Amino acid sequence: MKIAVIGTGYVGLVTGVALAEIGHTVTCIDIDSDKVKTLNHGIPTIYEPGLGEMMQRNMQNARLFFTADYARGLDRARVVYLAVGTPERPDGSANLDYVRQAARDLAAHISHPLIVVIKSTVPVGTNYKIQRLINRLVPEDMRVTIASNPEFLREGSAIHDTFHGDRIVIGTDNPAAAEVLEEINRPFGLPILHTDICSSEMIKYASNAFLATKISFINEIANLCEKLGADVEEVAQGMGLDHRIGPDFLKAGIGYGGSCFPKDTHALVQLAGNHHHDFNLLKSVIEVNRQQQRLLLEKIENRLGGDLAGKRLAVLGLAFKPNTDDMRESPALVMVPELAKRGADLIAYDPIASGRAEQLLGQVAVFTNHVDEALREADCAVILTDWPDIRKMEPETYKRLMKHAIVFDGRNCYSPNEMRRAGIDYYSIGRPNRATEFIF
Ligand code: UDX
Repeated sequence: MKIAVIGTGYVGLVTGVALAEIGHTVTCIDIDSDKVKTLNHGIPTIYEPGLGEMMQRNMQNARLFFTADYARGLDRARVVYLAVGTPERPDGSANLDYVRQAARDLAAHISHPLIVVIKSTVPVGTNYKIQRLINRLVPEDMRVTIASNPEFLREGSAIHDTFHGDRIVIGTDNPAAAEVLEEINRPFGLPILHTDICSSEMIKYASNAFLATKISFINEIANLCEKLGADVEEVAQGMGLDHRIGPDFLKAGIGYGGSCFPKDTHALVQLAGNHHHDFNLLKSVIEVNRQQQRLLLEKIENRLGGDLAGKRLAVLGLAFKPNTDDMRESPALVMVPELAKRGADLIAYDPIASGRAEQLLGQVAVFTNHVDEALREADCAVILTDWPDIRKMEPETYKRLMKHAIVFDGRNCYSPNEMRRAGIDYYSIGRPNRATEFIF
């Protein structure tokens, strides 16, 4: 089937490449002609494992094209995906300016009736609004049918998730459009759920809000475990064995970041508020996520005697999670300036995000992509991202390189016993660092 995808950001590019991979002929449209030029050279504009090869293969097989020209991109397309960004506004709501602009550009170039699929994460009701916006601008015989088809991709494993995801959700009120979308998606071989438009839009927000809730919940349990001498890793394991709870997203730590959870939880609280519903549970989830950073700062201050002036601190890991250079809403964006404010001398390490972090935080810390350089002569280390190389590091490395082997681990990378045995003063999240009998 001939498909057009508007927007070659993270979601648009992955969607376009994946649809070409399963046999469709896809043209990706972007108003940024420099980006289109780069993509036409077979160079992906985002970092995502496996994307480059898949993209090049489908370009060579003449199934994948990039253009800045709407008329060319839409030519004979039966379905158009809208996959532009919906960033957060200062009040927490989703900014729909890009979606509206893409819809207007689309309307200006329509020459035959189309199915418009909204991939972007949009507040419930937006699909109807966009359908009305387009249909007001086009002649009656060229009216479009709208469908919601949210994405559930994780950064760093988007290609894997596209082909091995748990479900595909298609929300439309039009049975013929539902059939066309079923046909497009069938080759993925994943379960397909058909819903109405509003439910499909809500599934995306509710899923991300629920996953964020799991993380904040386990973080609160972790904070309690610290007070009571229990070990949150064992608690999470015991909880996760109950299939009604499941083992995923129960990893305690410094809290969630990234381009989705913070933005989508804020947008859902806003959406609820607009409809006179106070989403208290989700507000608490957001607050607990902020609190995790404050608690780690307090732990550091308490251990180092309040004043961090003149102390050399190594920050290990800056990206919001491993295997990405994405710094959006990363805990490091709060932790690094807060530690600097307290007078610490900071040297921050990340294997691939250190350059990007330097652009954002360059005034308050020195950046490196060599872990040894960060640790050398440090008074204390603070782990913010559980990169595999950090996880694999031997306790002796801390002991050998640091001036004082004090380690605050915001991602529970090591066994407290092993660290203690190596002579490291080790503090993690939700795990006892003193004998329980002292508590009771
Ligand atoms: C997420 C959703 O997983 C995906 O379905 C959605 O489409 C977009 O948002 P992503 O932001 O790429 O994907 O990252 P994810 O791997 O889900 O992690 C999000 C954050 O939660 C990270 O900061 C991670 O460190 C944190 N996290 C995750 C925890 O703190 N504990 C966990 O148990 C799991």
